[in-house]
Amino acid sequence: MNDIPELSLQNVRIANPEHVTEVIQNMIRDGQNKLQVVADFDRTLSKYTHRGQICSTCHNVLEEGHVLPEFYKDEARALRDHYFPIEMNPKLTIEEKIPVMVEWWTKAHDLLSKCHITKDDVRIMVENSTARLRDGCTWFFDQLQATDIPLLIFSAGIGDVIIEVIKHQATLHDNMKVVSNYLEYDDQGKMTGFQDEMIHVYNKNEGAIHDSDYFQKLEHRNNVILMGDSLGDLHMADGAVGVQNKLKIGFLNVKVEESLELYMKKYDIVILEDETLNVVNAILRKVLQSKQ
Ligand code: C5P
Ligand code: MG
Repeated sequence: MNDIPELSLQNVRIANPEHVTEVIQNMIRDGQNKLQVVADFDRTLSKYTHRGQICSTCHNVLEEGHVLPEFYKDEARALRDHYFPIEMNPKLTIEEKIPVMVEWWTKAHDLLSKCHITKDDVRIMVENSTARLRDGCTWFFDQLQATDIPLLIFSAGIGDVIIEVIKHQATLHDNMKVVSNYLEYDDQGKMTGFQDEMIHVYNKNEGAIHDSDYFQKLEHRNNVILMGDSLGDLHMADGAVGVQNKLKIGFLNVKVEESLELYMKKYDIVILEDETLNVVNAILRKVLQSKQ
């Protein structure tokens, strides 16, 4: 397919190869100047597992190490044990999940607000954490920067943690915009809560980024690569203007058997249990090689 051997790998599933071939062909024809990328963070740019061991999400990072008190870790883990299976349950609809996700994020953020962490605490926790960018992420970021392709990272995680992970494990370039839940600090530098409206996994179709001029300014970039691991991520680029070709790439990390059919219906390309960005990078490499 499109002379990209990675698309034929055993862990890469494509429901409609003709459609994918055509979209990639159009992206190659149009070249880098027409492309923009929108990516989720946790378990999309970051790994679900690293050499078989489960890695931290942004929120998990706060439960590792010795910075936060035991009561925080215990309660945060109890919340995840209850809510994560609901987030990933393919038998529930998004409408059914939304109020439950709002409840999870609200409780988790209220809990964190009791701990009054500082920016330094966040940096230290990230440095000692098991959060890992996928293999190939540095190349991906650097190529997008070198070719002026905008990258929107749209995450229901924690913005402060994402920025630290990227700075620590790769480079935060000026073509990258991270939209997420950011911590709010008082004059003493202690965290008191969160800024702006909450972003959870299933409201990525709403919110400030779609109301801002971000997508308007990129209206000449008609080709969008969208990358996610949740079905909520499919809506991250709903605000994009004049889209002609959209390639939806989904990482399916958990409940693979139960979710595969649904993911193949919703995502153009589904990548199973992978710790790399190899497939995305192979497609990007082809687009960048085009003569436009
Ligand atoms: O970056 P992304 O939008 O994927 O971040 C959201 C992820 O963070 C969700 O998939 C969810 O499982 C995880 N999460 C968590 N702990 C919370 C809230 C969300 O691990 N308290
Ligand atoms: Mg995710």
